[in-house]
Amino acid sequence: RKNTMILAVETSCDETAAAVIRNGDTIVSSIIASQMESHKRFGGVVPEIASRHHVEQITLIMEEAMTEADVTFADLDAIAVTEGPGLVGALLVGVNAAKAVAFAHDLPLIGVHHIAGHIYANHLVEPLTFPLMTLVVSGGHTELIYMKEHGSYELIGETRDDAVGEAYDKVARTIGLPYPGGPHIDKLAQTAEAEIDLPRAWLEEGSYDFSFSGLKSSVINTLHNARQKEKEIDPAVIAASFQEAVCDVLVTKTRRAAKEYGVKRLLVAGGVAANSGLRTALETAAEEDGLQLTIPPLPLCTDNAAMIGSAAHFLLEKEAFADDRLNGVPGLML
Ligand code: KG4
Ligand code: ZN
Repeated sequence: RKNTMILAVETSCDETAAAVIRNGDTIVSSIIASQMESHKRFGGVVPEIASRHHVEQITLIMEEAMTEADVTFADLDAIAVTEGPGLVGALLVGVNAAKAVAFAHDLPLIGVHHIAGHIYANHLVEPLTFPLMTLVVSGGHTELIYMKEHGSYELIGETRDDAVGEAYDKVARTIGLPYPGGPHIDKLAQTAEAEIDLPRAWLEEGSYDFSFSGLKSSVINTLHNARQKEKEIDPAVIAASFQEAVCDVLVTKTRRAAKEYGVKRLLVAGGVAANSGLRTALETAAEEDGLQLTIPPLPLCTDNAAMIGSAAHFLLEKEAFADDRLNGVPGLML
């Protein structure tokens, strides 16, 4: 198929998003309504509030995406939607909206895995080439995924406890920074040296899994002990030391995985891809190891519908369509 046009929808967490994507690699329009402000005072995403906002926004956002793209339903080849993983109530809003529109306009429906979407955000920057390795780092995921072709995902490592973004947000809260804390820690880390030696969980020899809860606890204990002894610790030094420990493990394991699997292409996906320390460390590693590295620009790293439309393009090619039984699956496997 040439010049396919897909309307994609994403509502798995706290952004209501819709986009029109041409040919899997071109963003015709991309609209994102963030609910961040509503969740901020609770220090995290409240599922019930998220669902309600999605219900209020979804129709408007889909219309806006169509209007901005200047297309009608007759121009579309398919409707795509994130089917999981995510918050069940949030997912259901997008899935039902997509189903309704697909049925009303007699268009094929495509269910997309949220992480596949994050990976395909890279295809919107530079066409994917295989085999490749992706480091997925977000608020809910920390994974190394090997791909030998479009639509083929081999999970070679994942976190055994906290996701990286989650660890960032928890450490930020301990330091007294607002939610989501990742970007705040990142900014603070750039103002100090990593003077505190924090633990790195390498796990068993050869393992590509991750663990961040020990590191997180170590930061909390370090702060707690200092407070008890009425000693001052510079939060910036804590932030820098934490960031260095995180990046050290992420980059070392990613490099090793790329080498062992013989890939020349490296992708980064998810919200933590915005992290300055991680970007710099990966850029250096890629240069040293002769890897072609893609890190999507910020608006494509965090949740959006454009990435869902890109992943959907390859499902459209295979005619991997969903039917009216498509459902929101909170724990969907890749
Ligand atoms: O991918 P994403 O937008 O949502 C999920 O699907 O989880 O990722 C959000 C996560 C949050 O935990 C946030 O603190 C983190 O990404 N994050 C960062 C940075 N920007 C966002 N973490 C570290 N450094 C950053 N610059
Ligand atoms: Zn995400």
